[in-house]
Amino acid sequence: MFNRLCIIGVGLIGGSIAKSARLQCLSKQIVGYGRAQDLKNLETAKQLGVIDDFYLDIADAVQDADCIVIATPVASIEALFTLLKPHWSEQAIYTDVGSTKGNVIAAAERVFGAVPDNLVPAHPIAGAEKSGVEASLENLFLHKRLIITPLSFTRPDALRKIQMFWERLGALVSVMDAKRHDSILAATSHLPHILAFALVDMLGHKDEQSEIFKYAAGGFRDFTRIASSDPTMWQDICAANKNEIIPLIEQLKGELDKIQHLLASDDYQQLFSTFAYANTARQRFLNQFEVPMSKSITFQVQPGGKLQGEARVPGDKSMSHRSIMLGSLAEGVTHVKGFLEAEDALATLQAFRDMGVKIEGPVNGELTIYGVGKHGLKAPENDLYLGNSGTSMRLLSGLLAGQPFNSVLTGDKSLSGRPMKRVTEPLAMMGAEIKTTEKGTAPLHITGKAGQLKGIDYTMPMASAQVKSCLLLAGMYAQGETSVTEPAPTRDHTERMLSGFSYPVKQQGSKVTITSEGKLTAADIDVPSDISSAAFFLVGASIAPGSDLLLKHVGINPTRTGVISILRLMGASIEVLNERVVGGEPVADLHVVYSPLKGIDIPEELVPLAIDEFPVLFVAAACAEGQTRLSGAEELRVKESDRIQVMADGLQILGVDAQATADGMIIQGGGVIGGGTVTSHGDHRIAMSFSIAGLRANAPITVLDCANVNTSFPEFKDLVKSLGLDLVCGED
Ligand code: S3P
Repeated sequence: MFNRLCIIGVGLIGGSIAKSARLQCLSKQIVGYGRAQDLKNLETAKQLGVIDDFYLDIADAVQDADCIVIATPVASIEALFTLLKPHWSEQAIYTDVGSTKGNVIAAAERVFGAVPDNLVPAHPIAGAEKSGVEASLENLFLHKRLIITPLSFTRPDALRKIQMFWERLGALVSVMDAKRHDSILAATSHLPHILAFALVDMLGHKDEQSEIFKYAAGGFRDFTRIASSDPTMWQDICAANKNEIIPLIEQLKGELDKIQHLLASDDYQQLFSTFAYANTARQRFLNQFEVPMSKSITFQVQPGGKLQGEARVPGDKSMSHRSIMLGSLAEGVTHVKGFLEAEDALATLQAFRDMGVKIEGPVNGELTIYGVGKHGLKAPENDLYLGNSGTSMRLLSGLLAGQPFNSVLTGDKSLSGRPMKRVTEPLAMMGAEIKTTEKGTAPLHITGKAGQLKGIDYTMPMASAQVKSCLLLAGMYAQGETSVTEPAPTRDHTERMLSGFSYPVKQQGSKVTITSEGKLTAADIDVPSDISSAAFFLVGASIAPGSDLLLKHVGINPTRTGVISILRLMGASIEVLNERVVGGEPVADLHVVYSPLKGIDIPEELVPLAIDEFPVLFVAAACAEGQTRLSGAEELRVKESDRIQVMADGLQILGVDAQATADGMIIQGGGVIGGGTVTSHGDHRIAMSFSIAGLRANAPITVLDCANVNTSFPEFKDLVKSLGLDLVCGED
């Protein structure tokens, strides 16, 4: 990347930058600069091979350097700018690592009159309580956050290069303004340091009188580790950011007052709530660092591009699951076309093979299922592992509750955290016996109650097609009628496919009724393309100028087309062409061209009809002029990830004003989408949504943890690339 990298201040951070830049071969030469009193440290740095050479004269140090990193304490920044000013080069890129950014910008303004456009302020959120080059580490920045705080006039090429530089050092880059950086860091770094110093200051004096440290152990050590940090450095940081820190100290005093009051008034209930909330909040913080078990896949998306051409996205996930389930229970041989060959649907397929059903394929989306009849399933020898698939687990729990054998349903980490009481509770009313964890999550231990289930008339508290389908499948084995009423229309693929297999189901308004009187007769199934997968392209083409795309053979069941309705309300141009009915499901080709979008209040009745499409709709909202508001969508919090929080966090990292609410989000659209590193939290739809955001970003976006795209859309990366997005898939 560079010919000569000059590190000003070769301490812990500067030395670590030099070491990892060398490891990554990012510069032909790496030199250091320091003051006369730093001579010993610089000599050590050279001896250790951290730098190739060092200089005590700034002119010599920066001569011919194309990248200059200022890695000195925050208080020295103004003096350094003054020193650098006579040698400032338009050809070089300058950056710093200061832990406060407002003061760096203010110092640059004072020295240069205006902040130079080739200075890119940055801050790696990495460090240790040690200092000096000996403490430097070549992997100090690996998987650590790094914040860049450019100004509106910062040169884009300089910004891009610094972003790439840090990404090559392994950092997770975010871009935000300096004010936001300083207020976040005041809360999460500066305040904790002040607290640690304050506590040790107070207890240190007590110790002098009564030797209390002798009896201090792990808790004290953990809490006060950061009080071992360099006092001068922290004095400087606190001074530089005092405007953000002082109000936080006030808030903390209020929190301590609250706890004091709770204790004084014996309000242990509230005390517990406070501690319990903090405990969960800390877990949320820790979860970010969890390394995924499987190989980690990263999507690197270059900014810009447009989507053009024709595509057929893979088969519908919901229908693929149901084709296996009903095909297996049918009498006769069922042929399926357009089956989704992705992990979720394959998990269902494997579960039925485990229960003795012969299934050939899939080959090019074609399957042959040799149905065993309604009472032909066999006890599985092992637990049924359903991977990431909520649909498999919830629908199977209903089907297996009435079998003459016991079964255990397990899933991956995400599925094992999702609520299952929504199915086990109504199933229990039918006489089912299913044990969950205390939290109401998988594994599910199902005791088969063949012949003992009783029909119920159930009104669902939430609009869920999975709960409805689960109860209908249980109802096929229950005495009497089983009726499910939904508070709002949800996808009706189960009902349609049951009818397609000649099984009687009665629909009266929002109530659907089934009995055990009936049998399934094998029928061929043609699964259309999944509108939930098409949604990424509907949004991508709508937001990227110059796009023109035809999506073929997409399922447009009216319980699934909320995404089209919402995008049209926002001003999208989507034509529905060549409408037809295939195997009982409406299908069409969708023609979408770029159109400027505007923000809207999303009508609540559309929420269940677009429930899986909100992650990418949030991206559309970020590109739309004005405000978009979503409410009534609390279900999003219990999908494969908490899709409200995860999307708000990621959009914020990309510089979008997105505020999560309890049941939705408020997005101020129309601004710039920046670059940065976001994580999908292992959620396929989040990974694909942030990739699509790249079409309108002004810098590269890195999406971590994308292996789960395989659960619904393994072809995504190749398809989106062939249509015009510059996406590269890497493995860690
Ligand atoms: C599905 C129903 C929806 C949806 C899920 C698939 C189905 O879940 O989010 O991806 O196939 O029945 P809920 O029914 O829980 O809303």
